Amino acid sequence: MTEHWLVVSTTDEVGDRGKVFTYPDGPFEESGILVRVGGTIVAWKNLCRHLAVRLDRDLPGSVMDREGRHLVCGQHGAVFRAVDGLCIEGPCSGSHLKRLQVRVDDGRILLDLSALGGLHAATLPAGTA
Ligand code: FES
Repeated sequence: MTEHWLVVSTTDEVGDRGKVFTYPDGPFEESGILVRVGGTIVAWKNLCRHLAVRLDRDLPGSVMDREGRHLVCGQHGAVFRAVDGLCIEGPCSGSHLKRLQVRVDDGRILLDLSALGGLHAATLPAGTA
């Protein structure tokens, strides 16, 4: 499978409270969340596992708890561990956020569009490699 990487952020832009970003998936604009887990950057799809809404729907860009260890859905308070996306509290306990494949290259964070599994291959934006 051919990989197509899209720059979605720089490591400097990902603070203790994470960073929300957008990316194309076929004709749709989707949202993801970058978080720091130890010395690693991890990316989760910004979509609750209880209902199909963004975790930050009511307060855009605000997803992490004060300690930066958990992602919290603003709708009904589901709490997901940043390290593995597991919901540990709330109406979807036991489910996992969808992980997005990212890598860091010279301070840039790149998302693997080919791992999304959608219709994106035919509609990759200019500037992807
Ligand atoms: S929609 Fe996220 S907890 Fe209900």
